Amino acid sequence: LFSGFSSSAARNVVIKSVTIIGGGQMGAGIAQVAASTGHSVTLVDTSDDILKKSIETIEGSLRRVVKKKFADKPEAGEEFIRNVMQKVLTSADAASAVRGSDLVVEAIAENLKVKQDLFRRLDKLAPPHTIFASNTSSLSISDIASSTNRPDKFGGLHFFNPVAMMKLVEVIGTPATSQETSESLMNFSKVLGKTPVSSKDTSGFIVNRLLVPCIVEAIRMYERGDASKEDIDIAMKLGAGHPMGPIELADYIGLDTVKSIMEGEAKDPDNPLFASSDLLNKLVAEGKVGRKTAEGFYKYK
Ligand code: 3HC
Repeated sequence: LFSGFSSSAARNVVIKSVTIIGGGQMGAGIAQVAASTGHSVTLVDTSDDILKKSIETIEGSLRRVVKKKFADKPEAGEEFIRNVMQKVLTSADAASAVRGSDLVVEAIAENLKVKQDLFRRLDKLAPPHTIFASNTSSLSISDIASSTNRPDKFGGLHFFNPVAMMKLVEVIGTPATSQETSESLMNFSKVLGKTPVSSKDTSGFIVNRLLVPCIVEAIRMYERGDASKEDIDIAMKLGAGHPMGPIELADYIGLDTVKSIMEGEAKDPDNPLFASSDLLNKLVAEGKVGRKTAEGFYKYK
Protein backbone atom coordinates (compact mmCIF):
# COMPACT_ATOMS: atom_id res chain seq x y z
CA LEU A 1 0.00 0.00 0.00
CA PHE A 2 2.79 2.40 0.90
CA SER A 3 5.24 1.46 -1.86
CA GLY A 4 6.73 4.34 -3.79
CA PHE A 5 6.75 6.30 -0.58
CA SER A 6 9.71 8.56 -1.36
CA SER A 7 9.00 9.09 -5.04
CA SER A 8 5.45 10.27 -4.37
CA ALA A 9 6.34 12.26 -1.25
CA ALA A 10 6.52 15.47 -3.26
CA ARG A 11 2.86 15.15 -4.15
CA ASN A 12 1.79 14.75 -0.56
CA VAL A 13 0.10 17.55 1.27
CA VAL A 14 2.55 18.86 3.84
CA ILE A 15 0.44 19.52 6.88
CA LYS A 16 1.20 22.79 8.60
CA SER A 17 -2.16 24.04 9.74
CA VAL A 18 -4.59 21.79 11.57
CA THR A 19 -8.16 22.23 12.75
CA ILE A 20 -9.25 19.94 15.57
CA ILE A 21 -13.00 19.66 16.05
CA GLY A 22 -13.92 18.67 19.60
CA GLY A 23 -12.23 20.01 22.72
CA GLY A 24 -12.66 16.96 24.95
CA GLN A 25 -9.90 14.78 26.34
CA MET A 26 -8.82 13.48 22.92
CA GLY A 27 -9.25 16.71 20.92
CA ALA A 28 -7.31 18.71 23.50
CA GLY A 29 -4.57 16.08 23.53
CA ILE A 30 -4.27 16.06 19.74
CA ALA A 31 -4.19 19.88 19.70
CA GLN A 32 -1.45 19.79 22.33
CA VAL A 33 0.87 17.45 20.42
CA ALA A 34 0.21 19.18 17.09
CA ALA A 35 1.06 22.59 18.57
CA SER A 36 4.07 21.16 20.44
CA THR A 37 5.50 20.01 17.12
CA GLY A 38 5.15 23.37 15.41
CA HIS A 39 1.74 23.18 13.73
CA SER A 40 -0.73 26.04 13.74
CA VAL A 41 -3.76 24.67 15.52
CA THR A 42 -7.35 25.82 15.73
CA LEU A 43 -9.36 23.94 18.33
CA VAL A 44 -13.10 24.09 17.73
CA ASP A 45 -15.98 23.31 20.05
CA THR A 46 -19.51 24.57 20.49
CA SER A 47 -18.98 26.96 23.39
CA ASP A 48 -16.33 29.23 24.83
CA ASP A 49 -16.79 27.58 28.22
CA ILE A 50 -15.83 24.17 26.86
CA LEU A 51 -12.89 25.70 25.00
CA LYS A 52 -11.68 27.40 28.16
CA LYS A 53 -11.59 23.99 29.85
CA SER A 54 -9.77 22.48 26.87
CA ILE A 55 -7.10 25.17 27.11
CA GLU A 56 -6.70 24.43 30.82
CA THR A 57 -6.37 20.73 30.05
CA ILE A 58 -3.68 21.44 27.45
CA GLU A 59 -1.76 23.72 29.80
CA GLY A 60 -2.00 21.23 32.66
CA SER A 61 -0.70 18.40 30.51
CA LEU A 62 2.07 20.60 29.05
CA ARG A 63 3.20 21.40 32.59
CA ARG A 64 3.56 17.69 33.31
CA VAL A 65 5.51 17.15 30.08
CA VAL A 66 7.77 20.14 30.76
CA LYS A 67 8.47 19.07 34.35
CA LYS A 68 10.23 16.02 32.92
CA LYS A 69 11.58 17.36 29.65
CA PHE A 70 13.02 20.58 31.07
CA ALA A 71 13.71 19.26 34.59
CA ASP A 72 16.87 21.34 35.05
CA LYS A 73 15.84 24.27 32.83
CA PRO A 74 12.53 25.55 34.25
CA GLU A 75 12.77 28.85 32.36
CA ALA A 76 13.17 27.08 29.03
CA GLY A 77 10.16 25.01 30.05
CA GLU A 78 8.05 28.12 30.66
CA GLU A 79 9.08 29.49 27.28
CA PHE A 80 8.18 26.19 25.63
CA ILE A 81 4.70 26.33 27.19
CA ARG A 82 4.21 29.94 26.07
CA ASN A 83 5.27 29.10 22.51
CA VAL A 84 3.00 26.08 22.32
CA MET A 85 0.02 27.94 23.76
CA GLN A 86 0.52 30.68 21.17
CA LYS A 87 0.07 28.09 18.46
CA VAL A 88 -3.38 27.06 19.71
CA LEU A 89 -6.27 29.28 18.68
CA THR A 90 -9.78 28.40 19.74
CA SER A 91 -13.00 28.97 17.84
CA ALA A 92 -16.67 28.18 18.21
CA ASP A 93 -17.05 28.49 14.44
CA ALA A 94 -15.91 25.37 12.57
CA ALA A 95 -16.80 26.93 9.22
CA SER A 96 -14.28 29.74 9.37
CA ALA A 97 -11.63 27.60 11.08
CA VAL A 98 -11.36 25.06 8.25
CA ARG A 99 -10.88 27.61 5.47
CA GLY A 100 -7.11 27.77 5.98
CA SER A 101 -6.50 24.20 7.14
CA ASP A 102 -4.42 21.46 5.57
CA LEU A 103 -5.97 18.87 7.88
CA VAL A 104 -9.18 18.61 9.88
CA VAL A 105 -9.22 16.07 12.71
CA GLU A 106 -12.63 15.36 14.20
CA ALA A 107 -12.83 14.14 17.81
CA ILE A 108 -16.47 14.75 18.76
CA ALA A 109 -19.06 12.42 20.30
CA GLU A 110 -19.47 8.98 18.75
CA ASN A 111 -22.62 9.65 16.74
CA LEU A 112 -22.54 8.79 13.05
CA LYS A 113 -25.20 11.25 11.96
CA VAL A 114 -23.62 14.16 13.84
CA LYS A 115 -20.23 13.36 12.36
CA GLN A 116 -21.68 13.04 8.86
CA ASP A 117 -23.53 16.35 9.18
CA LEU A 118 -20.36 18.06 10.37
CA PHE A 119 -18.20 16.74 7.52
CA ARG A 120 -20.91 17.42 4.92
CA ARG A 121 -20.85 21.05 5.99
CA LEU A 122 -17.05 21.31 6.21
CA ASP A 123 -16.65 19.66 2.79
CA LYS A 124 -18.24 22.71 1.18
CA LEU A 125 -16.00 25.16 3.05
CA ALA A 126 -12.55 23.59 3.26
CA PRO A 127 -10.08 24.08 0.39
CA PRO A 128 -9.87 21.15 -2.07
CA HIS A 129 -6.47 20.00 -0.77
CA THR A 130 -7.64 19.70 2.86
CA ILE A 131 -7.50 16.20 4.29
CA PHE A 132 -10.31 15.11 6.62
CA ALA A 133 -9.68 12.61 9.40
CA SER A 134 -11.77 11.16 12.19
CA ASN A 135 -10.48 9.98 15.57
CA THR A 136 -13.51 7.69 15.95
CA SER A 137 -12.95 4.48 17.87
CA SER A 138 -16.25 2.78 17.15
CA LEU A 139 -17.63 3.96 13.81
CA SER A 140 -16.71 3.08 10.26
CA ILE A 141 -14.51 5.66 8.52
CA SER A 142 -16.17 4.80 5.17
CA ASP A 143 -19.59 5.58 6.63
CA ILE A 144 -18.43 8.96 7.94
CA ALA A 145 -16.57 9.79 4.70
CA SER A 146 -19.63 8.97 2.59
CA SER A 147 -21.13 12.32 3.57
CA THR A 148 -18.39 14.16 1.67
CA ASN A 149 -17.26 14.53 -1.92
CA ARG A 150 -13.65 13.86 -0.94
CA PRO A 151 -13.53 10.17 0.11
CA ASP A 152 -10.01 10.04 -1.41
CA LYS A 153 -8.92 12.71 1.07
CA PHE A 154 -10.55 11.03 4.05
CA GLY A 155 -8.99 8.66 6.58
CA GLY A 156 -8.90 7.66 10.20
CA LEU A 157 -6.34 9.07 12.60
CA HIS A 158 -6.81 7.23 15.86
CA PHE A 159 -4.96 8.48 18.93
CA PHE A 160 -4.68 6.96 22.40
CA ASN A 161 -5.33 8.46 25.78
CA PRO A 162 -3.35 10.24 27.20
CA VAL A 163 -2.34 11.58 23.79
CA ALA A 164 0.73 13.37 25.15
CA MET A 165 2.15 10.07 26.42
CA MET A 166 0.93 7.33 24.09
CA LYS A 167 3.29 6.84 21.17
CA LEU A 168 0.89 5.14 18.77
CA VAL A 169 -1.35 6.49 16.03
CA GLU A 170 -3.48 4.15 13.94
CA VAL A 171 -3.85 5.46 10.38
CA ILE A 172 -6.98 4.01 8.82
CA GLY A 173 -7.44 3.87 5.09
CA THR A 174 -10.75 3.01 3.44
CA PRO A 175 -10.89 1.49 -0.06
CA ALA A 176 -11.43 5.07 -1.31
CA THR A 177 -8.56 6.72 0.61
CA SER A 178 -5.80 7.71 -1.83
CA GLN A 179 -2.23 6.65 -1.32
CA GLU A 180 -1.23 10.32 -1.07
CA THR A 181 -3.68 10.85 1.76
CA SER A 182 -2.47 7.76 3.63
CA GLU A 183 1.13 8.87 3.21
CA SER A 184 0.34 12.41 4.37
CA LEU A 185 -1.36 11.03 7.49
CA MET A 186 1.55 8.64 8.17
CA ASN A 187 4.03 11.52 7.76
CA PHE A 188 1.97 13.83 9.94
CA SER A 189 1.89 11.20 12.71
CA LYS A 190 5.68 10.88 12.54
CA VAL A 191 6.13 14.65 12.69
CA LEU A 192 4.01 14.56 15.87
CA GLY A 193 6.65 12.25 17.32
CA LYS A 194 4.35 9.23 17.18
CA THR A 195 4.74 5.82 15.59
CA PRO A 196 1.99 5.24 13.03
CA VAL A 197 0.62 1.84 12.08
CA SER A 198 -1.81 1.33 9.24
CA SER A 199 -5.05 -0.58 9.52
CA LYS A 200 -8.04 -1.31 7.36
CA ASP A 201 -11.38 0.20 8.28
CA THR A 202 -12.48 -2.76 10.41
CA SER A 203 -14.32 -2.43 13.72
CA GLY A 204 -11.92 -1.66 16.56
CA PHE A 205 -9.01 -1.26 14.11
CA ILE A 206 -6.02 -2.99 15.79
CA VAL A 207 -5.74 -1.89 19.39
CA ASN A 208 -9.37 -1.69 20.45
CA ARG A 209 -10.20 -4.93 18.64
CA LEU A 210 -7.78 -6.69 20.97
CA LEU A 211 -7.93 -4.47 24.05
CA VAL A 212 -11.66 -3.98 24.52
CA PRO A 213 -12.64 -7.68 24.56
CA CYS A 214 -9.90 -8.15 27.19
CA ILE A 215 -11.28 -5.28 29.26
CA VAL A 216 -14.87 -6.51 29.03
CA GLU A 217 -13.84 -10.08 29.88
CA ALA A 218 -12.11 -8.67 32.97
CA ILE A 219 -15.38 -6.93 33.90
CA ARG A 220 -17.37 -10.14 33.34
CA MET A 221 -14.80 -12.02 35.42
CA TYR A 222 -15.38 -9.58 38.29
CA GLU A 223 -19.15 -9.83 37.73
CA ARG A 224 -18.97 -13.63 37.99
CA GLY A 225 -17.09 -13.28 41.27
CA ASP A 226 -14.03 -15.12 39.94
CA ALA A 227 -11.72 -12.52 41.48
CA SER A 228 -11.89 -9.06 43.04
CA LYS A 229 -11.43 -6.07 40.74
CA GLU A 230 -8.31 -5.10 42.64
CA ASP A 231 -6.80 -8.57 42.14
CA ILE A 232 -7.69 -8.61 38.44
CA ASP A 233 -5.87 -5.27 38.02
CA ILE A 234 -2.85 -6.36 40.07
CA ALA A 235 -2.69 -9.63 38.14
CA MET A 236 -2.52 -7.96 34.72
CA LYS A 237 -0.02 -5.35 35.89
CA LEU A 238 2.36 -7.78 37.56
CA GLY A 239 1.62 -10.89 35.50
CA ALA A 240 1.37 -9.36 32.05
CA GLY A 241 3.31 -6.13 32.43
CA HIS A 242 0.41 -3.83 31.60
CA PRO A 243 0.83 -0.27 32.95
CA MET A 244 -2.76 -0.29 34.19
CA GLY A 245 -5.03 -3.21 35.04
CA PRO A 246 -8.00 -3.74 32.69
CA ILE A 247 -10.62 -2.45 35.11
CA GLU A 248 -8.75 0.71 36.07
CA LEU A 249 -8.03 1.20 32.36
CA ALA A 250 -11.77 0.95 31.64
CA ASP A 251 -12.38 3.76 34.14
CA TYR A 252 -9.53 5.72 32.57
CA ILE A 253 -10.88 5.37 29.00
CA GLY A 254 -14.48 5.98 30.13
CA LEU A 255 -17.06 3.20 30.53
CA ASP A 256 -19.35 4.89 27.99
CA THR A 257 -16.55 4.75 25.42
CA VAL A 258 -15.72 1.13 26.27
CA LYS A 259 -19.40 0.24 25.84
CA SER A 260 -19.71 1.97 22.48
CA ILE A 261 -16.52 0.38 21.11
CA MET A 262 -17.79 -3.00 22.30
CA GLU A 263 -21.14 -2.47 20.61
CA GLY A 264 -19.37 -1.42 17.41
CA GLU A 265 -17.40 -4.68 17.47
CA ALA A 266 -20.28 -6.95 18.45
CA LYS A 267 -21.36 -7.85 14.93
CA ASP A 268 -21.85 -11.51 15.86
CA PRO A 269 -24.21 -11.86 18.84
CA ASP A 270 -23.22 -15.51 19.33
CA ASN A 271 -19.53 -14.73 19.79
CA PRO A 272 -18.85 -14.79 23.58
CA LEU A 273 -15.92 -12.44 23.02
CA PHE A 274 -18.40 -9.68 22.33
CA ALA A 275 -21.06 -10.57 24.91
CA SER A 276 -22.20 -7.50 26.82
CA SER A 277 -21.84 -7.05 30.55
CA ASP A 278 -24.83 -6.15 32.74
CA LEU A 279 -22.58 -4.44 35.24
CA LEU A 280 -20.96 -2.27 32.56
CA ASN A 281 -24.38 -1.34 31.19
CA LYS A 282 -25.67 -0.52 34.68
CA LEU A 283 -22.76 1.79 35.54
CA VAL A 284 -23.10 3.63 32.22
CA ALA A 285 -26.87 4.01 32.76
CA GLU A 286 -26.16 5.49 36.21
CA GLY A 287 -23.71 7.98 34.73
CA LYS A 288 -20.80 6.40 36.62
CA VAL A 289 -18.48 6.26 33.64
CA GLY A 290 -15.08 6.37 35.31
CA ARG A 291 -12.52 9.03 36.09
CA LYS A 292 -14.28 11.79 34.20
CA THR A 293 -17.32 11.49 36.51
CA ALA A 294 -15.19 10.70 39.60
CA GLU A 295 -16.75 7.23 39.83
CA GLY A 296 -16.79 4.07 37.77
CA PHE A 297 -15.57 0.74 39.07
CA TYR A 298 -13.44 2.78 41.47
CA LYS A 299 -14.00 6.16 43.12
CA TYR A 300 -11.74 9.14 42.34
CA LYS A 301 -11.11 12.39 44.13
N1 3HC B 1 -0.18 14.56 30.13
C1 3HC B 1 1.14 14.69 30.27
N2 3HC B 1 1.92 13.83 30.97
C2 3HC B 1 1.30 12.79 31.55
C3 3HC B 1 -0.09 12.60 31.46
C4 3HC B 1 -0.84 13.54 30.71
N3 3HC B 1 -2.16 13.44 30.57
N4 3HC B 1 -0.40 11.48 32.13
C5 3HC B 1 0.75 10.99 32.63
N5 3HC B 1 1.80 11.77 32.28
C6 3HC B 1 3.21 11.57 32.55
C7 3HC B 1 3.67 12.55 33.61
O1 3HC B 1 5.03 12.83 33.40
C8 3HC B 1 3.48 11.74 34.88
O2 3HC B 1 4.24 12.22 35.95
P1 3HC B 1 3.56 13.31 36.96
O3 3HC B 1 2.38 12.61 37.58
O4 3HC B 1 4.66 13.60 37.92
O5 3HC B 1 3.15 14.48 36.16
C9 3HC B 1 3.95 10.37 34.43
O6 3HC B 1 3.44 10.24 33.10
C10 3HC B 1 3.45 9.24 35.29
O7 3HC B 1 2.04 9.32 35.43
P2 3HC B 1 1.24 8.64 36.61
O8 3HC B 1 2.06 8.70 37.84
O9 3HC B 1 -0.12 9.23 36.63
O10 3HC B 1 1.00 7.12 36.25
P3 3HC B 1 1.69 6.05 35.30
O11 3HC B 1 3.13 5.90 35.55
O12 3HC B 1 0.82 4.85 35.41
O13 3HC B 1 1.54 6.60 33.80
C11 3HC B 1 0.05 6.35 31.98
C12 3HC B 1 0.33 7.00 33.32
C13 3HC B 1 1.05 6.84 30.92
C14 3HC B 1 -1.35 6.78 31.61
C15 3HC B 1 0.17 4.78 32.09
O14 3HC B 1 -0.52 4.34 33.22
C16 3HC B 1 -0.36 4.06 30.89
O15 3HC B 1 0.30 3.95 29.88
N6 3HC B 1 -1.60 3.51 31.01
C17 3HC B 1 -2.28 2.82 29.93
C18 3HC B 1 -2.95 3.80 29.04
C19 3HC B 1 -3.58 3.16 27.85
O16 3HC B 1 -3.61 1.96 27.68
N7 3HC B 1 -4.15 3.99 26.99
C20 3HC B 1 -4.85 3.55 25.84
C21 3HC B 1 -6.30 3.43 26.13
S1 3HC B 1 -7.22 2.91 24.72
C22 3HC B 1 -7.51 4.33 23.88
O17 3HC B 1 -7.17 5.42 24.26
C23 3HC B 1 -8.25 4.18 22.60
C24 3HC B 1 -9.57 4.84 22.61
O18 3HC B 1 -10.20 4.62 21.38
C25 3HC B 1 -10.45 4.36 23.73
